[in-house]
Parts: sequence; C-alpha cells; structure tokens
Amino acid sequence: MKVLIVGSGGREHAIAASVAKSNKVDEIYCAPGNAGIGMIAECVPIGAMEFDKIVAFAKEKKIDLTIVGMDDPLVGGLVDELNAAGLKAFGPKKDAAILEGSKAFSKDLMKKYHIPTAAYETFEDAEAALGYLETAGFPIVLKADGLALGKGVLICNTPEEAKEGVKSIMLDKQFGSAGNKLVIEEFMTGREVSVLSFVDGKTIKTMTSAQDHKRAKDGDQGLNTGGMGTFSPSPFYTEEVDAFCKEHIYQATVDAMAAEGREFKGVIFFGLMLTEKGPKVLEYNARFGDPEAQVVLPRMKNDIIEVAEACIDGTLDKIELEFEENATVCVVLASEGYPVAYEKGFVIDGLENFTGRDGYYCFHAGTKKTDEGIVTNGGRVLGITAKGKDLKEARLNAYAATEWVDFQGKYMRNDIGKAIDEA
Ligand code: AMP
Ligand code: GLY
Repeated sequence: MKVLIVGSGGREHAIAASVAKSNKVDEIYCAPGNAGIGMIAECVPIGAMEFDKIVAFAKEKKIDLTIVGMDDPLVGGLVDELNAAGLKAFGPKKDAAILEGSKAFSKDLMKKYHIPTAAYETFEDAEAALGYLETAGFPIVLKADGLALGKGVLICNTPEEAKEGVKSIMLDKQFGSAGNKLVIEEFMTGREVSVLSFVDGKTIKTMTSAQDHKRAKDGDQGLNTGGMGTFSPSPFYTEEVDAFCKEHIYQATVDAMAAEGREFKGVIFFGLMLTEKGPKVLEYNARFGDPEAQVVLPRMKNDIIEVAEACIDGTLDKIELEFEENATVCVVLASEGYPVAYEKGFVIDGLENFTGRDGYYCFHAGTKKTDEGIVTNGGRVLGITAKGKDLKEARLNAYAATEWVDFQGKYMRNDIGKAIDEA
C-alpha cells in the first residue's frame, strides 16, 4: 500500500521509520518532510497546512492511508477534508482534535467528567483575569487557550509576573488568536510523565511511558522548548500509577469525548503530573509527542499500519500492543541559541555513522538537503536515539552517538535521563 505522512519534524521521521518496517507498505511519501525522512520516503514540497494540495496529491497518487503527525493540520481539520474526498486518514477529526486545540475545552471536559486535573478558571476578558489574580495564590499557571507551539504556558511566581503574562497573552496577543481565551490554573508539583495511546473511538490502548525534558538547559533551567530529549520507559510510571490512570483518566477521557459527540480516533497523548494527591492531567495532545515518538515507536513491536487501521476501523480491541523489554533515550541536538535566535544552513558531518548501526537512530528534525550536503534548518536539528538493556545503558549509548555527528553551533543538554539515577 501507499502511505503519506504529513509533517516535517523528528516525530514524523520516527513515524516514517516505523511505517517503513511494515511489510504491508510499498511506497512512503511525506509532505513536506526533511532530509532524513527523504532517505526512507519521497518528500513532496507541500506544506502541512496546504489542505487542497494534500488532498489533490493523495487522490492523484491513490494514497491508501495518510498519517497526520502534526497538531496544526489536525486541529484545522485535515482529516475531515481527506475523509470528505473518500481518503483514509489516521488522526482525529477537527471536532475531536479540539482536545488539544482548546485548553478551555479540555479543562471543561475534565471538570464535567471528573477526570483529575489542576483547579482552574477560564477568562475571555483581560480585566476579569487581572481581577482574579488579586486574590490568587502563587505560583500560578497561565495557559493561552489555543495552539502556541508548546510555548503558551507561563508559570508565574509573583502577581507582577502574572499580570504581565495576562497582558502579553490577552492584550498584546503574543500567541495570536490562541490568546483570545486564557486558562488560569493551580500550580502543581511532581514528576511529569507522557503516556501516548491509540484510540479507536471506544477502545484505548496505552503505549509504554516516556518523559520529556522541556527546558533548554541542564537541570531544567532556561526557557521552555519543544523538547530537548526524552527517555522511555519512565521508572516513575509504576503499576500503581498505571492502575490509577486506567481507572480515572484514560477510558474516562475516551468515553467523555464520545458522550460529547466528538468520537476520538487517533493518538491521545496524556501529559501527566504525578502529584502527592495522585496522577493528574497537565494537558492532552491529539498526536504523538515530539520527541516522545522518537523513544516510544522504536520499542513498539506491532506493525504501526495494522494499529492505525484498527483505530480507523474501530477494531482496536483485537490488537495487543507489545513493546520491547528494553529502554531508549533521545538526545536532541539543537542549534546554539534555540529557542530564541539561531542560525541555519550549517553542514552536518558524520550522518553516515548511523548506517547499519542496529539500535541507533538519527531522527532528523530541522534539516535540509542542499548541493553542499545536508544542512541545519531549524532550532531542533537531530534527535539522537539509542536503545539499551536498561535506561542507564540507553543513556550511555545515546550520548556516545551524539559524538558521531557534528555541525557548527551544535548544542545539547547533558542530563537527559539523569533523573533515572534517582529512581
Ligand atoms: P503544557 O503545554 O500544558 O504541557 O505545559 C508545559 C509545561 O508547563 C508542562 O510540561 C509543565 O512542566 C508545566 N505546567 C503546565 N501546567 C502546569 C501546572 N498546572 N502546574 C505546574 N506546571 C505546569
Ligand atoms: N513533547 C511534548 C509535545 O510533543 O507536545
């Protein structure tokens, strides 16, 4: 069969690598893709938000399945448009992708269906939000309602910071229309865990756990980024935590969406915080995480196409998800200056060192093929992933592999997965 993947990051490279392992698949296309994806798929120069062009391409090539990796096209309704043209697509429709597209929606859903999450209030008016801050406790968390490249969350330690935050989100529209509504939320503390799951509208099957490192610098210092590295599984995601989440969070979310007439098919990503009062939902995403996909998918034994088709057909109950009994660590190699200002266009040396190395992956995030070779083309450039028998070994392997490649301005965190030493 012919598969089209929509997106251009490390997550889409990891999805493409999984798809390439399926013996059901003959041809893989990616719109728009990147230099790494181009090694295993045919990249087509169509942007992820160019819905008409994507639909026309999928029709022309007789694509059997389109996998939408990114949040923007999901929230914008790409799956609806593909379906309307009679094409099969993996991912939630627009009315279900709102689970990620609107934080106010997801918070209200959790409240209505008693799914554990932080206490919150929603505001559409900046004056009201500023008034609320007069009596609030600190720290407090401000969240722009809509999509903001993972940057729409501000943790404010003082009333002054929070007031500035309300102004920049709601009045100055730092995140554009994503800031038309604002969620103000109780600050929680605890370990964070990411749990990705496949959902077919009724049945949910969770994948192995992972943990992201969102801050730019070692020791969780610096600005929030799209993610500087991940590991899987999380030693903090115990059987007890899993049992609690199964009882109170996972199925409850799927049932809540169905009860609202917003049947969810695709991937739900549960961002969890393990608080003293038990696990609570920090956020939902309607897609694989990036860079969570880079550590979860390499450990999955199932054929991703079979699982995706079961989600679409509503037969996920027939599938048993299986993961390898090992561990993975992904270290992101970024451009110096990310997530603020950085240069692009530097040649990347050593990519060939990954060829034929079992258990090692060089997932491309921001790269481009040019006449001079493959060059850096984004803030996050590569996601170096390695397996190991346990997390410690995977971490050693991943950091060793970060030395195999080089480019000007190469920057990484040196403590990805370090928390596992405390486990
Ligand atoms: P989100 O985009 O909702 O995942 O938020 C980004 C990051 O902000 C999360 O990964 C947490 O580290 C942090 N965060 C979000 N909500 C809260 C909260 N209520 N309490 C503490 N930290 C939070
Ligand atoms: N790694 C977090 C995300 O994909 O949103």
